Amino acid sequence: MADEVILEVRDLRAYYFTPLAVVRAVDVVTFDLRRGETLCLVGESGCGKSATALAITRLIEGLRGRIVGGEVLYHGEDLLTYPPARMRRLLGSRIAMVFQDPQSSLNPVLKVGDQIAEPMRLHLGMTQRQARERALELMKQIGIPAAEKRIDDYPHQFSGGMKQRVMVAQALACNPEILIADEPTTALDVTTKAQVLDIFRNLKQQRMSIIFITHDMGVVAEMADRIVVMYGGRVAEVGSLLDIFDKPQHPYTQALLRCLPDPSGANQKLECIPGTIPGLVDPPDDCNFNPRCPYVMPMCLEKRPPEYVTAPGRRVACYLHREFPVFEGHPVPLMKGVV
Ligand SMILES: Nc1ncnc2c1ncn2[C@@H]1O[C@H](COP(=O)(O)OP(=O)(O)OP(=O)(O)O)[C@@H](O)[C@H]1O
Ligand code: SF4
Ligand SMILES: [Mg+2]
Repeated sequence: MADEVILEVRDLRAYYFTPLAVVRAVDVVTFDLRRGETLCLVGESGCGKSATALAITRLIEGLRGRIVGGEVLYHGEDLLTYPPARMRRLLGSRIAMVFQDPQSSLNPVLKVGDQIAEPMRLHLGMTQRQARERALELMKQIGIPAAEKRIDDYPHQFSGGMKQRVMVAQALACNPEILIADEPTTALDVTTKAQVLDIFRNLKQQRMSIIFITHDMGVVAEMADRIVVMYGGRVAEVGSLLDIFDKPQHPYTQALLRCLPDPSGANQKLECIPGTIPGLVDPPDDCNFNPRCPYVMPMCLEKRPPEYVTAPGRRVACYLHREFPVFEGHPVPLMKGVV
């Protein structure tokens, strides 16, 4: 069904609890994913993109992280209420993730073919032989040359780009409904990046539902149907590809886009956003972009702006748009006794 929402992230908050501080990595994030779309999560390093993905999949819970508020509704059911065993069954089968760092995500002592086959044996009940055959098919499909030979290699025998492909094959093994790809091309050289992007372009054409995380606006321009711009653990702006690239409304998005090279070559000077990203330990309740914002007003220093609905499907967390209605979303109270 067109526009069918299959995942709703509502008021999600997830913090890292380190011995020294609480890091508010996801500090109220709301968006949805529709069937067959590619939704890009974009923002500077450290703005909470990976933490959001790890909170949706609840993998953050094994990393000193805790979800302290919100809901993650998958077909209307809150994943945050799933017992761990049910969540494990869902991950890798219906919802799969390609991690930011394939180096540390693949098991160094297991053959790559076995690592691709494992979820199929686990979740689909395939025999070893069936899973191996399907693993081989997947390796060919995502362009691993001499797949028949390489299926018995170990991860260290693969280059970075090939490891990334193995991760994608593993994620696709059980034909998931949702694929979350966390910076799948960031660590790759230009040629390999183009090849891996091709794989994702293909998946996009097949109308897979994808959450694609990147800080590269060039990649966003190629991949996204809709975009969630994050800043300092919060949502700065949400809109369609055209909305965001044609008429960015948040000063941060505008600044991000000014950092892109000018395709006409007329302006050779690359801009950068002055200042640094906000700290996520004990942040003040103001607009976290205010130290870097050219339009800062007194109210921006006093209270965090709500998200304003500036058009259907379009939201922006900035007082410059305060003539528009406030996004009500589906307010979810903070979980009791966690902070
Ligand atoms: N295991 C952890 N323990 C404590 N803090 C963490 C941990 N992992 C990430 N953080 C902090 O949480 C915040 C959000 O990090 P996150 O990894 O989500 O950023 P990101 O947007 O994915 O950045 P990048 O583009 O560099 O991958 C950062 O301040 C980061 O330092
Ligand atoms: S709320 Fe104020 S400081 Fe924040 S982005 Fe908008 S104008 Fe700038
Ligand atoms: Mg990350």
